[in-house]
Amino acid sequence: MNKYIKDVKMLKFPSYIVDDLSIGHVEIEGLKEIPFEIKRFFYIFGSGNVGMVRGKHANRRSKFVLLNIAGRSKVKTIDEDGNTEIYELNHPYDALYLPEYVWKEMYDFTEDSVLMVLTNEYYDSTEYIRDFEEYVKILKEEQ
Ligand code: TYD
Repeated sequence: MNKYIKDVKMLKFPSYIVDDLSIGHVEIEGLKEIPFEIKRFFYIFGSGNVGMVRGKHANRRSKFVLLNIAGRSKVKTIDEDGNTEIYELNHPYDALYLPEYVWKEMYDFTEDSVLMVLTNEYYDSTEYIRDFEEYVKILKEEQ
């Protein structure tokens, strides 16, 4: 297990839910609930993701917070020894924090899934590690 994967954790955002009226409100304050300064967010949505596996990469600099603002999805992390963990994003107030150098795969998207991703970096394709063998090599060399 590497030092980055030890910091992976689920977050629960402050929320106001009135079940019988089906009203919900979630509040996310930068640097309070999110453990980094947000520079960018994007979302993955569309029924085309049903049955697809997204992600399959690690990042050298980007940290992420992932949350399903609608629908559901799962996130699998894999470390350099092949150990996996699965996290379920089932509510708009539940999120997953991933530091840099964590291999991630997003899957099991429901048709209505809107997976929002907050990050500390602008998009830079060169900081992506897209080959799992290379990821293992980098992590093993670091230890
Ligand atoms: P990629 O990160 O590979 O997909 P996934 O959502 O499965 O992790 O991104 C898909 C494509 O979109 C790829 O060509 C890079 C591009 N892209 C951007 O241009 N900007 C972005 O912020 C992101 C996340 C992706």
